[in-house]
Amino acid sequence: MVSVDDVLKTLSTVIDPDLKKDIVSMGMIKDLEINSNDLKFTLELTTPACPFNDQIEEDVRKAVSTLGVSKLDLKVTAKVMEGRALNMDEMMPTVKNIIGVASGKGGVGKTTVSVNLALALAQAGAKVGLLDADIYGPSVPLMLGMGKSVMEVENNKLQPAESNGLKVVSFGFFAEQDHQAAIYRGPIISGIVKQFLVDTNWSDLDYLIVDLPPGTGDIPLTLAQTIPITGILVVTTPQDVASNVAVKAFGMFQKLNVPIIGIIENMSYFKCPDCKKDHHIFGKGGAKKISEKYGIPFLGEIPLNPGIMEGSDTGRPVLVTDPKSAHASAFTNVAKNVAARCSILAAQLNEEMKAEVATQK
Ligand SMILES: Nc1ncnc2c1ncn2[C@@H]1O[C@H](COP(=O)(O)OP(=O)(O)OP(=O)(O)O)[C@@H](O)[C@H]1O
Ligand SMILES: [Mg+2]
Ligand SMILES: [Zn+2]
Repeated sequence: MVSVDDVLKTLSTVIDPDLKKDIVSMGMIKDLEINSNDLKFTLELTTPACPFNDQIEEDVRKAVSTLGVSKLDLKVTAKVMEGRALNMDEMMPTVKNIIGVASGKGGVGKTTVSVNLALALAQAGAKVGLLDADIYGPSVPLMLGMGKSVMEVENNKLQPAESNGLKVVSFGFFAEQDHQAAIYRGPIISGIVKQFLVDTNWSDLDYLIVDLPPGTGDIPLTLAQTIPITGILVVTTPQDVASNVAVKAFGMFQKLNVPIIGIIENMSYFKCPDCKKDHHIFGKGGAKKISEKYGIPFLGEIPLNPGIMEGSDTGRPVLVTDPKSAHASAFTNVAKNVAARCSILAAQLNEEMKAEVATQK
């Protein structure tokens, strides 16, 4: 008969490739039960969308097979880690990760990426919210095909609208077409963004994706300064790499001590329907190069694809209409890399907080 010690010792040879730590000391093994020669436990991963989840499970099964147990009853679950440095007076305590989606210049596909990324994370099993913080040009409702949705107010809190399993808040639900927010001044816009963040009943969320307007104006600044966030995703296209606009965007967030989760290159290449090859129309590997130069993780490429554009423009995102297609899978892969990076940042945060507590003793 195997002992609990044997099992834990064996399982501690399994390393989480992202966190570079063994799964036992990370506390991923739960509810361990040994019944004569039968073994039962739960493997609790750090996100349902990790690219290494299958590998970790396989490594666990392999490790257990060396123990000579007759039966393994393994349950695999995921509990997303807290990825925010919560304040004592935290205003959004039920939201584990807040991810801003930014870019140096307009039209690079932030909203398209935000919407499909949110959908991919939700499809992986995470609880996901999407905040359209582009008050000047809210386009999330259009991309999700939810034109006339309403957000109710209950107990002084805004109730988000719902679409495809996402909780969605957008100024587009309020604004009349001819009543655009462009007429509002900075402080009012900041006030609206703050309210959308902290006066919304998000309930429990693993990830809140915040779609930002382009550049480094009032709204990104408000996001960075109102509440602690997990970090920023910078979306680029191959063209703006040359002009360094992406670099400017992450420069501002780094100055504000906001972590950069990573960089995503949109409209990277075109999968040719004729020769089936990937054509890098605007040059290859630009975002990867800046990621190396500035030490910022590269989280993947999204192809230039007519289906992606049509999905965004008709309110039927590819993650909903065609989730198994190659172009939708590009978003799924990026989503996994984003989730993995959030786990890494959360683990780092954990270590920092432990170190801080230790020095205070
Ligand atoms: N990978 C892609 N393939 C094809 N078209 C795309 C892709 N990504 C975005 N688009 C299209 O490019 C246009 C701009 O995209 P989107 O609105 O997402 O950019 P944005 O960065 O949010 O713009 P803004 O700065 O105005 O907020 C849209 O018409 C969208 O459908
Ligand atoms: Mg946009
Ligand atoms: Zn071709």
